[in-house]
Amino acid sequence: MSAGALAIRGGSLADGTRADVVIIDGVVAAIAENAEIPLDAAVLDASGCIVGPGLVDLHAHLREPGNEAAETVETGSRAAALGGYTAVVAMPNTTPTIDSASVVNLVRQLGERAGLVDVYPAGAITIGREGRQMAPLAEMAALGVRLFTDDGSGVQDNRLMRRALEYASALGVTLAQHCEDSSLSEGGVMHEGAWSSKLGLPGQPAEAEELMVARDIALCRRIGSPVHFLHVSTAGSVELVRRAKADGLPVTAEAAPHHFTLTDACLANYDTVFKVHPPLRTEADRTAVQQGLLDSTIDAIATDHAPHTPETKERSMLDAPPGMLGLETALALALTELSLPMPRLFAVMSSGPARIAQIAERHGELGIGRAANVCVIDPSERWEVDSRKLASKARNTPYAGRVLQGRVRHTVRNGVATVKNGQAQR
Ligand code: DOR
Repeated sequence: MSAGALAIRGGSLADGTRADVVIIDGVVAAIAENAEIPLDAAVLDASGCIVGPGLVDLHAHLREPGNEAAETVETGSRAAALGGYTAVVAMPNTTPTIDSASVVNLVRQLGERAGLVDVYPAGAITIGREGRQMAPLAEMAALGVRLFTDDGSGVQDNRLMRRALEYASALGVTLAQHCEDSSLSEGGVMHEGAWSSKLGLPGQPAEAEELMVARDIALCRRIGSPVHFLHVSTAGSVELVRRAKADGLPVTAEAAPHHFTLTDACLANYDTVFKVHPPLRTEADRTAVQQGLLDSTIDAIATDHAPHTPETKERSMLDAPPGMLGLETALALALTELSLPMPRLFAVMSSGPARIAQIAERHGELGIGRAANVCVIDPSERWEVDSRKLASKARNTPYAGRVLQGRVRHTVRNGVATVKNGQAQR
């Protein structure tokens, strides 16, 4: 699609400078106050808004192929664009698993066909995410895959993880770990603590996560290959990452919005919308995750967008699948619940994740000569989350009825508006 000329007029950059952004043929041509706007340019009004780089999500379950009843690449992409995203890393726990060149190509093609965000498939570390045999990392890396994970499960076998890190090091790719020692977490449906005792539900202890974080830090120290920690949720994990970074190790970490906004007390009514892995933790953990985002221990906010059909989420707490929606609410939750200065907000929602995903050439920064991936935020808009109005196919948001401050007004991907005045354009 030819992008032509587009101007985003009257907004301010993250540092408060007033600036118009002029885009020509998909590339940022000017960023300046009262910039000269070509006569044929389409104009997006950004008055009162903050104009920054398009957001990058390191962690979305788009469910295609295999579970199109819950989400498709197209519906997930639309949710992402409405959330301000221009790039999304698609998790490989699909059916079939993204563990071969053919499935990588399929997901990529589906992303291109939807045409709403750049979809970057992550590859699995092990075949079928079964934790037994290494997937063909080189075959997928040759196609440009830069992030590998068995997300949904952690790689349990120490030797296999070590070997995978050695391969990753040679290939220049990053392994992203879902930290959960299944020998401790098996059967647990929420955080193990006072609330799980009160509710009589089996719990997952914090140590199930922290032991795997500690193991991977030890392996990272030996092999030197980067490790990215997915959805860190406990104070102990945050502290382990903080110390590993102080030691100069190439580790990075992300936090999901639900881990800095919700706690295990939310499960008091046995509502499965709050069931998620890793589970919602205690207030002290929630505060530690927030602190990690503020002090740069945590590099990224990642949604862990996990759509599930109503039929499956309506099962009992023991049987319902874990996971909650995230793409359409992440930015507003960050704006409402965290007091991050705007440059730090874009660091954790755009440039940080772009660096981790190794897509910083196209994403993560708004600059002259760069691909025009832009997010325009109206910080003054207050809105109520209405689960019936979400673009996602699924409805499992834990935030229904919550009033949030700050909303995406426009999203521009590659010079083309995918969202205009809060409306998806396709
Ligand atoms: O809650 C979760 N849901 N955690 C995961 O790691 C996987 C995800 C899913 O795929 O539903």
